[in-house]
Amino acid sequence: MSKKILLKNVHNQGQATFDGYVNSGGLLGLKKALKKDPKEVIEEVKNSGLRGRGGAGFPTGVKWGFVPRDTGKPVYLICNADESEPGTFKDRVIMERDPFLMIEGMIIAAYALGSSLSFIYVRGEYSYPYIKTLEAIKEAYSKGMLGKNILGSNFSHEMVLHRGAGAYICGEETGLINSLEGKKGQPRIKPPFPAVKGLYGCPTCVNNVETLAVLPFIFSEGWEAYAALGTEKSKGTKLISASGHINKPGVYEIELGYPLKEFLEVECGGVWKGRKLKAVIPGGSSVPVLRADEIEKVNLDYESLRDAGTMLGSGGFIVLDETADMVEVARNLAHFYAHESCGQCTPCREGGHWVEKVFTRISKGRGVPGDMELVDSMCSQIAGHTICPFGDALVTPAQSLMKKFPEEFKDRILNGSKSTNPLNYELGH
Ligand SMILES: Cc1cc2nc3c(=O)[nH]c(=O)nc-3n(C[C@H](O)[C@H](O)[C@H](O)COP(=O)(O)O)c2cc1C
Repeated sequence: MSKKILLKNVHNQGQATFDGYVNSGGLLGLKKALKKDPKEVIEEVKNSGLRGRGGAGFPTGVKWGFVPRDTGKPVYLICNADESEPGTFKDRVIMERDPFLMIEGMIIAAYALGSSLSFIYVRGEYSYPYIKTLEAIKEAYSKGMLGKNILGSNFSHEMVLHRGAGAYICGEETGLINSLEGKKGQPRIKPPFPAVKGLYGCPTCVNNVETLAVLPFIFSEGWEAYAALGTEKSKGTKLISASGHINKPGVYEIELGYPLKEFLEVECGGVWKGRKLKAVIPGGSSVPVLRADEIEKVNLDYESLRDAGTMLGSGGFIVLDETADMVEVARNLAHFYAHESCGQCTPCREGGHWVEKVFTRISKGRGVPGDMELVDSMCSQIAGHTICPFGDALVTPAQSLMKKFPEEFKDRILNGSKSTNPLNYELGH
């Protein structure tokens, strides 16, 4: 399918131990990076074309360039391992099976940023990834990979592992920072951006696990090798967590630009039970849905998915077959967002529950004409009216599901639970 960078060694016996990691070529990138000037490290990351894998796809080297090193305050690096976007389960594979890859990447980033202390913020529900990462950090300290004079260099770095309490909003970088400081996990108004005023009021860089874990490759093989992969604007590979109505759910590494349909049919083994494809949500539940007829010429990269009216997001690839009840999908996702709102902004806190209530009544066959317009109007009062992009994340599935499958919503409103979709009717939806 394509070159493996992140998943190359995940099936190796002992890969999660220091010796296993070194035997498979680990630490080479760090050794090379430590010999360069930090500014050169940042330049090379810029040249590689690496873009943040947490969802927004912002160029990583550019982001590092925003972090001032001369304020007299410490610089902090945070690895965002909150991974709570529905349909996304890629970072956990690195944490469980190749945690030193993430640790090595973090040390490279910390060296470039001039940071002597970093944090890994792990999703509260991730017990096993937490344990494997903790074991790896302890071993890294005992082998001189962390602590004073790393691998005999002049660079020293400490790393702290922090486990969240299980809140989706703590994946948003400023919510995460507040949580790490021991406050409520509620996002901050930006600006100031974390690069300038982040953790404890100091310059802070927040990067996703996958973004950081690819750095060892960029420095062991050279940025040119990374930039040679992918498309003109979407460089490298991307982890995709595929779930839903497919034969082979799992985590895959694809070269960016890979055709979506081929990914679905070849890697995912096609739609299960011989059924037809109905829709795909390509980047986690917060991105717009694509109907089956819209995926023909779409590739898995930032630009192609944007041109198709959706996003690559976190790479959470959710497949829905012809039996999927889209009203129920909308209700289910609305329930998730209503539950996960941090409650700070009124439009999101109140609006999320109203959207869920209206979808619930439609799905139970108690909808009334005008309900779709009502949801739309509520969504327009939430999106763009909140401190963080959670409000936009909440309205995107609601509006896009109604826009792409209006007949299903109308049918449920007019005919109650007697859906005209024969498959849904048989299944008793
Ligand atoms: C509601 C919300 C949830 C988020 N959840 C995550 C998450 O679980 N993991 C993550 O890396 N980024 C998440 N992000 C994005 C982060 O705010 C941030 O942009 C990212 O960690 C930056 O890393 P990157 O530049 O490496 O992509 C979330 C953003 C929002 C608005």
